[in-house]
Amino acid sequence: MELDYMSAKDAAHLWGISQRRVAVLCAEDRIPNVTMIGNMWLIPKTAKKPIDGRSSKDNCTKSLKPFVKWAGGKSQLISEISSKYSSELGKSIDKYAEPFVGGGAILLDILSKYQLSKAYISDINSELINTYICVRDNVDELIQRLYAFENAFLPLDTEYRKVLFYSNRARFNELAINKIYNTEAAALFIFLNKTCFNGLYRVNKTGLYNVPMGSYINPTICDEENLTAVSEALSNVEIVCADYRESASFIDDKTFVYFDPPYRPLNTTSSFTSYNEETFDDKSQIELANYVQKLAKRGAHIVLSNSDPKNTDPNDDFFDFLYAKQSIERIQASRMINSNGNSRGKISELLICN
Ligand SMILES: C[S@@+](CC[C@H](N)C(=O)[O-])C[C@H]1O[C@@H](n2cnc3c(N)ncnc32)[C@H](O)[C@@H]1O
Repeated sequence: MELDYMSAKDAAHLWGISQRRVAVLCAEDRIPNVTMIGNMWLIPKTAKKPIDGRSSKDNCTKSLKPFVKWAGGKSQLISEISSKYSSELGKSIDKYAEPFVGGGAILLDILSKYQLSKAYISDINSELINTYICVRDNVDELIQRLYAFENAFLPLDTEYRKVLFYSNRARFNELAINKIYNTEAAALFIFLNKTCFNGLYRVNKTGLYNVPMGSYINPTICDEENLTAVSEALSNVEIVCADYRESASFIDDKTFVYFDPPYRPLNTTSSFTSYNEETFDDKSQIELANYVQKLAKRGAHIVLSNSDPKNTDPNDDFFDFLYAKQSIERIQASRMINSNGNSRGKISELLICN
């Protein structure tokens, strides 16, 4: 019998996974009757998507790190937050959503530990989301571009590094203004994150990224091993540039949801809420709490983190009131405690669960 074939790109589209993932599945002989002509995989049109979409050697073993440093990143709090993962995660709760993904420390912890049928991440920052999509779908080109930046930047002295940094920043902003989302923009995003002051992402009122160069002596601009592992892990993840409320159609009673919104500022000097041009004020926190109640009624399994206003005002019951129906735990986190960012201290943060 003659077989009709489709390309890896068509299979990727049909199965909702990355082209790279399809190529890995072909190379691992996990799709019957595939054949290679030149450097192209040909896949029988009748082939079914392999059940778990991942090889067993990938399961639960690789440790994955965020590929960018991100304000409010949760790498330090993984052990506290992971103690709140439902015991049914990876079993009857087999979907995961992280609507404010940022650097994705919790996402990557979960993807490295559990087999899930579906995952959904979103963020309002379109340049960040473009970078996630390129890591998932185009990691080889991304790695090549990052090595080119690394090889050009590291041998230079500070003065020439500055020239390169600011010309890359200008190019990044040019692409951002013109809403060009491609692998060049993603490589610039990672380059700037690795070489700017404190890995900050900050934009001015017109939306232009304006963080100055940092003073790292030998920054790793291209972490090939981690990028490749994260790319594999993201292969079945739906990645969306959207407001957090658009996750509503994904989330059901089989979904574990982690919300890490911009924190409510404790005082005006310690505040950092401008990841983009929008601000996340008390009205936004109230709307989010209403959204959480709606999902909780639907049976979703929810963890949410936020700052604890009681650090500065023991009578401030803002979150205790908003999340009266949930359980609220106070945990100790190590955070910057002054405005010039050179002093760290323990501070209480909230973990809210249903
Ligand atoms: C505290 S950070 C998340 C940090 C992340 N958990 C980590 O480990 O790096 C909050 C994120 O929410 C995003 N954000 C702000 N407003 C949003 C909205 N309305 N919808 C979706 N994402 C939003 C910001 O761009 C930022 O990346």
